[in-house]
Amino acid sequence: MKSLAIAGSMAAGAAAAAAATGCTPEVFTPYLSSNASIVYARVFTADQTFVGPMGNYTNLPEYCAVYVNVSSSATSSYEFAVWLPTQTWNGRYLAYGNGGFTGQIAFADMAPGLEYGFATVSTNTGHNSTVQEAGDAGWALNDPETRTDWGWRALHGTVALGKTLTEAYYNETIAYSYYSGCSTGGRQGLKEVQMFPDDFDGVLAGACAWWTTHQQNWDLKVAVDNLPNNASHHVTSELMDVLADEVLRQCDGADGLRDGIIMNGYACQFRPETLLCDGSNTTNTSTCFTPAQIDTIYKVYGAWVETNQTFVFPSFAWGSEAQVAEMILTDDDEQGSPSGIAYPRDFVYNDADWAWQNLDLATIQLSDSLDPGNATAGDFDLRPFYNRGGKLLHYHGFADGEIPTGSSIYYYRHVQETLVPLGIDLDDFYRFFLIPGMEHCLDSVHDAPWYIATANQPGGLVAESSNDTIWGVPGYRDAKHDALLAIMAWVENGTAPEELVATKYVDDTPSLGVQAQRVICPYPKQAEYVGGDWNTTESFTCSGYY
Ligand SMILES: *[C@@H]1O[C@H](CO)[C@@H](O)[C@H](O)[C@H]1NC(C)=O
Ligand SMILES: *[C@@H]1O[C@H](CO)[C@@H](O)[C@H](O)[C@H]1NC(C)=O
Ligand SMILES: *[C@@H]1O[C@H](CO)[C@@H](O)[C@H](O)[C@H]1NC(C)=O
Ligand SMILES: *[C@@H]1O[C@H](CO)[C@@H](O)[C@H](O)[C@H]1NC(C)=O
Ligand SMILES: *[C@@H]1O[C@H](CO)[C@@H](O)[C@H](O)[C@H]1NC(C)=O
Ligand SMILES: *[C@@H]1O[C@H](CO)[C@@H](O)[C@H](O)[C@H]1NC(C)=O
Ligand SMILES: *[C@@H]1O[C@H](CO)[C@@H](O)[C@H](O)[C@H]1NC(C)=O
Ligand SMILES: *[C@@H]1O[C@H](CO)[C@@H](O)[C@H](O)[C@H]1NC(C)=O
Ligand SMILES: *[C@@H]1O[C@H](CO)[C@@H](O)[C@H](O)[C@H]1NC(C)=O
Ligand SMILES: *[C@@H]1O[C@H](CO)[C@@H](O)[C@H](O)[C@H]1NC(C)=O
Ligand SMILES: *[C@@H]1O[C@H](CO)[C@@H](O)[C@H](O)[C@H]1NC(C)=O
Ligand SMILES: *[C@@H]1O[C@H](CO)[C@@H](O)[C@H](O)[C@H]1NC(C)=O
Repeated sequence: MKSLAIAGSMAAGAAAAAAATGCTPEVFTPYLSSNASIVYARVFTADQTFVGPMGNYTNLPEYCAVYVNVSSSATSSYEFAVWLPTQTWNGRYLAYGNGGFTGQIAFADMAPGLEYGFATVSTNTGHNSTVQEAGDAGWALNDPETRTDWGWRALHGTVALGKTLTEAYYNETIAYSYYSGCSTGGRQGLKEVQMFPDDFDGVLAGACAWWTTHQQNWDLKVAVDNLPNNASHHVTSELMDVLADEVLRQCDGADGLRDGIIMNGYACQFRPETLLCDGSNTTNTSTCFTPAQIDTIYKVYGAWVETNQTFVFPSFAWGSEAQVAEMILTDDDEQGSPSGIAYPRDFVYNDADWAWQNLDLATIQLSDSLDPGNATAGDFDLRPFYNRGGKLLHYHGFADGEIPTGSSIYYYRHVQETLVPLGIDLDDFYRFFLIPGMEHCLDSVHDAPWYIATANQPGGLVAESSNDTIWGVPGYRDAKHDALLAIMAWVENGTAPEELVATKYVDDTPSLGVQAQRVICPYPKQAEYVGGDWNTTESFTCSGYY
């Protein structure tokens, strides 16, 4: 049995209770109001395969899979799945979040969640769409109810009803409830903390897309900074590679160590002018930049400040170029519908013909006044969550090329400004970890250690066999390496994470062994090199400061 030692005696009691109830629609239906229905409830044994939209799962500990459809208004509905281990329940509940505008149950996260022994749950957020369509929000046009489901209602309703079904199934009270999500999932986690502080005892929130009204418009702003593709200021993805190399050359050593890892992408005084074509090679635009292209880099890597010095959104950090090139400054000719247009067009103006050329300060002001779906998780007063004893672990990669690292720093600092004057020490309930070199939610540049077993991350690792589900931190099932175990130790034992350790496996394949590990520190502390092999944990301590 793969259950954790911490599952202890709860698992045995749970298994007995599960056997007593069974896994059929009839068992669960009595707990539903008239606006919800069971689509199916059936057991999956270890040799049976669950066919999910993003992959198939087999060899999981036996579980009862329940699929529920909830009518959230006269014109909207959301679906969710809850997986209940029949023999290996650890007495705890774990909800997973979503990504982008995607409407898809996070089965790829639920499978690892089940391996720990959790009863685990996830919703489609009120509409169906795939990860490939993460930037599309056509479903939101003329549909305020579905926007509200995506904004907060589907997750909260799922968490509440999922708890009821879990307790009914085991005939036992859930001991602790947790949440894990990244990107939109990070936003959902903060939204829950702000709006429904009793839903979770512990929340893991990564790369939070929390400032919906600003961040979603900023997505469009940076994309159009580089349009049209035939303009002299357009920076090609080839040139972004040149930029990335120069950023590494100028910035890597700023932390005192040339190891390929930029510890603080905002600390480098990067000078793109070193890349200016010098007159001898003005036609070879794949190796050097024109002045107009340098200006584009300044725009994309500068904070967005609008008319009258209105601060709108922070910029990417230096070091994020690889993902910025791939996600935002693409060479696809997107003039008709550039990346990032979905939010202002489909949520804010609700006009399928809205033209991106109209993006300006008024767009931000209208977005703020409408906040469609009430999606923004912009409340800095976390006292209700603090007072009920909740714990929040927030993290963000420093090479994130989708959601600027600075937006998480901005959030943390504003919670400080709100709560410190009230005598609340954030370290008592809210810790924030920056992960140098990590991209958006998972993966890294230049082999930086990134893996801490948070939402989406197992999907970035390669299993030895296609039937194996990677869960936790293989080889390191402890609260220092595994952020989920860290939040559990904090909630259940009061052991706050003083530092975590991020892992990089050889070729991101755990069976090939560990390539490097590095300490990551609770903000504003920063890992500092103290000598030795930089690939090992001992060579860094949390003695520096951002
Ligand atoms: C994966 O599991 C399925 C179902 O148990 C089995 O048919 C298949 O042979 C397995 N594949 C591998 C690579 O082990
Ligand atoms: C999952 O299984 C289904 C049905 O057997 C198959 O069609 C599909 O290709 C599989 N998907 C993956 C990602 O292996
Ligand atoms: C859930 O209900 C909605 C609205 O009635 C329906 O469109 C949808 O197909 C249902 N989903 C499932 C899985 O039954
Ligand atoms: C479902 O119905 C119950 C009572 O019948 C109501 O309290 C609840 O708000 C409804 N939920 C939704 C999502 O409409
Ligand atoms: C969403 O997808 C699920 C299965 O992937 C399907 O059963 C359901 O009917 C779909 N819901 C809607 C509203 O289309
Ligand atoms: C549920 O638990 C209660 C109290 O522990 C017990 O009296 C009852 O028989 C249990 N019900 C089932 C179906 O096991
Ligand atoms: C919107 O969310 C905030 C918390 O972020 C909450 O206080 C407020 O009641 C919500 N408003 C609506 C209309 O849902
Ligand atoms: C760029 O392309 C557009 C059409 O796609 C064309 O109208 C315009 O003249 C081109 N501009 C330059 C500078 O080539
Ligand atoms: C062209 O410009 C690049 C970038 O400034 C420079 O490194 C390279 O040496 C130049 N090539 C020639 C042939 O001058
Ligand atoms: C900028 O400030 C001036 C002076 O206060 C004001 O008249 C103007 O409306 C402001 N512009 C915008 C776009 O808010
Ligand atoms: C709490 O501490 C005990 C004793 O050290 C340990 O066995 C247990 O695993 C800890 N629980 C968690 C959730 O870390
Ligand atoms: C760290 O690991 C990388 C990749 O295995 C290797 O190239 C490098 O030499 C190592 N650094 C040290 C200081 O051992």
